[in-house]
Amino acid sequence: MSGPLLSMVAAGRVHNADGPVPVHALRGVDLSVAPGELVAVMGPSGSGKSTLLHLAGGLDTPTEGEVLLDGVSLSGLSVKARAALRRRSVGYVFQDLNLVPALTAVENVMLPRELDGVRVRQARREAEAALADVDLSDVADRFPDELSGGQQQRVAIARALVGPRRLVLADEPTGALDSITGESIMKLLRARVDSGAAALMVTHDAQHAAWADRVVFLRDGAVVER
Ligand SMILES: Nc1ncnc2c1ncn2[C@@H]1O[C@H](COP(=O)(O)OP(=O)(O)OP(=O)(O)O)[C@@H](O)[C@H]1O
Ligand SMILES: [Mg+2]
Repeated sequence: MSGPLLSMVAAGRVHNADGPVPVHALRGVDLSVAPGELVAVMGPSGSGKSTLLHLAGGLDTPTEGEVLLDGVSLSGLSVKARAALRRRSVGYVFQDLNLVPALTAVENVMLPRELDGVRVRQARREAEAALADVDLSDVADRFPDELSGGQQQRVAIARALVGPRRLVLADEPTGALDSITGESIMKLLRARVDSGAAALMVTHDAQHAAWADRVVFLRDGAVVER
């Protein structure tokens, strides 16, 4: 089907709505991302960038408005159905990476594919290819705590890109990388988007944002013009 892969309609998120100090982390966000589009999200610390990505990936639910994936409202799905959709369709690079410490690099990258029901040998082949794409073949059998910060970040990127994920959500995927490695990751993300995925990427780096088709600026939880 055509049309946006991701749509956020007047989406907002209030934390502690009934408490003494409600926090309006996000408000009134209208945003669509179509297949073939890479959208960068920029804004100061605390402006709601991670909150926006969490809502887009169904990891958190909006307290206002709606989030639709392929035209299907995430809030209409059961927790289980939402988890399955997320696993199948969404690749996520977390700001804090979230690698599993007891699994090696290649096992971390295999994990989402195995959860998708892909057989171990094929999952390993795919994971090895994804690690080669981020130039990490030589450390595939190391555990996360045996890797540098930038290597860990690249493992997390490989895990988000492995398999046929159609929506890639990346929260500062190049934060720990030198400029040459960062550019090569941007090239990889751009290639994935050019072959039909949709991507939303948080970055503080104007040079990396230049790879995007559009830049969305957030301030105090709202989209602003710049
Ligand atoms: N669980 C929570 N409870 C209360 N407030 C929260 C919670 N999570 C986030 N917030 C608040 O929501 C706002 C947006 O946070 P968010 O993590 O989305 O910012 P960010 O733009 O990703 O910042 P950074 O660049 O530092 O990662 C902040 O004011 C934050 O303190
Ligand atoms: Mg953040």
